[in-house]
Amino acid sequence: MDDLGSFTFDGQTIGFRSGESVLEAARRAGESIPSLCFDPRLKAYGSCRVCVVKINGRIGASCTTPCAPGLTVTVDDEIASLRRTLVELTGSLLPDDRLSGCPQCRLDGTCEFHRVARAVGAEPGRFAGAAGGVAHPDDNPFLGRDYSRCINCYRCVRICDEIEGDNAITARGRGFESTIAAWFDRGLEQSSCELCGQCIHTCPTGALTDRKMATKIAEVEKKTRLPILAEEIQRVESVCPYCGTGCGITLNAARGELLGITPVMDSPAADGALCVKGQYGTDFIASPDRLTKPLIRDRDPSTGLRAVGGGFREASWDEALTLVAGRLAGNLRDHGPDTFAAWASARTTSEANYLLMKFTRGVIGTNNIDNCQRT
Ligand code: FES
Repeated sequence: MDDLGSFTFDGQTIGFRSGESVLEAARRAGESIPSLCFDPRLKAYGSCRVCVVKINGRIGASCTTPCAPGLTVTVDDEIASLRRTLVELTGSLLPDDRLSGCPQCRLDGTCEFHRVARAVGAEPGRFAGAAGGVAHPDDNPFLGRDYSRCINCYRCVRICDEIEGDNAITARGRGFESTIAAWFDRGLEQSSCELCGQCIHTCPTGALTDRKMATKIAEVEKKTRLPILAEEIQRVESVCPYCGTGCGITLNAARGELLGITPVMDSPAADGALCVKGQYGTDFIASPDRLTKPLIRDRDPSTGLRAVGGGFREASWDEALTLVAGRLAGNLRDHGPDTFAAWASARTTSEANYLLMKFTRGVIGTNNIDNCQRT
């Protein structure tokens, strides 16, 4: 992106790039501006007004104001007070805007709304409001929907449209009655929703939650008879093993169990987007059906045939590798290298796939190797 010019922010000169808003350029330069309806992956919406600044002396939302050469942007006490009041008014939509009871605060230590509320010094419960929505009785196993915690920023609606292209949800009603609904107000599984979980990860409150992770947490807590605290959750970044895209994922674990997956928001492969498999397809990790030892299917001595669909016995690695090496050597000798083919997998490491390629080409002597990442 080319630098197009500069403006001043509280006296500091900030260069801006093509298409940047005042909020984006200022944040890139290290300035801190609070926001609620803004998500850098989405078009600016301008509904919460929490990002207000003074632009050439007039109050305006910085997320919807494009940069222009010579702008003078300032933040003074009047702006600080305005931001605080706006957050307090937004908080009046919540049943309890204190930390207790917010499921996202419990999981992450703080949700985005409460982080912003603390940053602007908002006073909880200053305005008496009315909770707008209710918990939706949606029985899908993946997404919890409690619109009593919705602040009408519409980030979920916009991400479903602009990033996913699903348009599974929309806004319904006005004012305190306003809420988010799927088609004909049914469950998400009866809509075009792909259960990718994008809406959960853009939601700034605990209105949308990862139900599968919540279920797992409750299971582990019941087993260990102790509540899981946000500080004890280990978060390990990795790469999704399902396909060749390589989306960044964070594995959230506690007490030796995987609780669930969250996206790495700045992952270059997917910009925080995961599909339903990457987001929720973790059951195989602790499956008792996973193979942990080599299995060999012997011939039945009476028939000389191998049993179909079973008849395996556990074997040592030495025995299994000796058997495979002998068979491969026999096939190579009798039928040549092109009777061999290898399929690499997106679910193994790059190093393992590299070794398989070297083995196929260098040891066996054939180019018969392919990978599911090409499909
Ligand atoms: Fe700018 Fe909401 S973040 S109006």
